Amino acid sequence: MVEFDDVSKVFFKGTVPIQALGRLNLSVREGELLAVVGPSGCGKSTLLNMTAGLMKPGTGAIRYKGQAISGANTQVAYVTQKDNLLPWRSVEQNIRLPLEMGPHKRLSEAEKRERVARYIAMVGLKGFEKHYPKELSGGMRKRAQLARSLVYEPDTLLMDEPFGALDAQLKLMLQAELLKTWEGSGKTLIFVTHDLTEAISLADRVIVMSGRPGRIIAIADIRLPRPRDVFHIRFQPEFGDYFEELWAALKQDLASGEAAT
Ligand SMILES: Nc1ncnc2c1ncn2[C@@H]1O[C@H](COP(=O)(O)OP(=O)(O)OP(=O)(O)O)[C@@H](O)[C@H]1O
Ligand SMILES: [Mg+2]
Repeated sequence: MVEFDDVSKVFFKGTVPIQALGRLNLSVREGELLAVVGPSGCGKSTLLNMTAGLMKPGTGAIRYKGQAISGANTQVAYVTQKDNLLPWRSVEQNIRLPLEMGPHKRLSEAEKRERVARYIAMVGLKGFEKHYPKELSGGMRKRAQLARSLVYEPDTLLMDEPFGALDAQLKLMLQAELLKTWEGSGKTLIFVTHDLTEAISLADRVIVMSGRPGRIIAIADIRLPRPRDVFHIRFQPEFGDYFEELWAALKQDLASGEAAT
């Protein structure tokens, strides 16, 4: 679905280069849930930005469904790390936004309303439809962003630490909702997180990146059965094995001192 072919990226601060990504090779399979973990600053958001076509790779190429990405990739929906709700639009109007653009414009008014209401209910924002972003908590803003990307019903979803700032209970609830929505949908999902437990609970495959310049240092196929119950899956013995294996890679990288920020 997405292919990263020898992708690297260097940013410049004035004349000082910062190598964000090392040479990265990765094939994201159609319909898989791929979790990406790695230390802060290792290029995870950069990877998603390039997949969304918001940024060009320095070297190498990224292909989406076999085609080089040039310009904004409108086939993916992107829940960015930074909150980008429009402050002058209410929750409902923000979530509706993707349906006012591109091919979704053709949906009937009834269908648009139904979808917006369905995703608002799914993320638990019922009753807050008319609120503006500044009238929401941080977690509620994240949930509105999530609903806005789901309403679009794209082939591929990119999520950058969508549940990072939420309290532990809400995080579990939303993970469960996400799995319920995703399992059986056939959609490809790239999910960036700091949280190894979250990554293993959700993913078909977890990749671990090194500190800057980000490279892939471990990949694990997570063969836990589906449908999964995020509330209990962490207590399964196999879960512990995956955790140990991936944590060892993360820890070794931290110890090698490359994870400088
Ligand atoms: N637009 C930009 N201009 C300059 N430097 C950038 C830009 N975007 C990212 N960087 C740099 O590239 C490196 C990787 O950034 P990135 O945001 O991809 O990290 P990350 O893995 O998402 O980190 P975090 O987990 O903290 O979100 C960082 O050193 C950052 O300073
Ligand atoms: Mg990031």
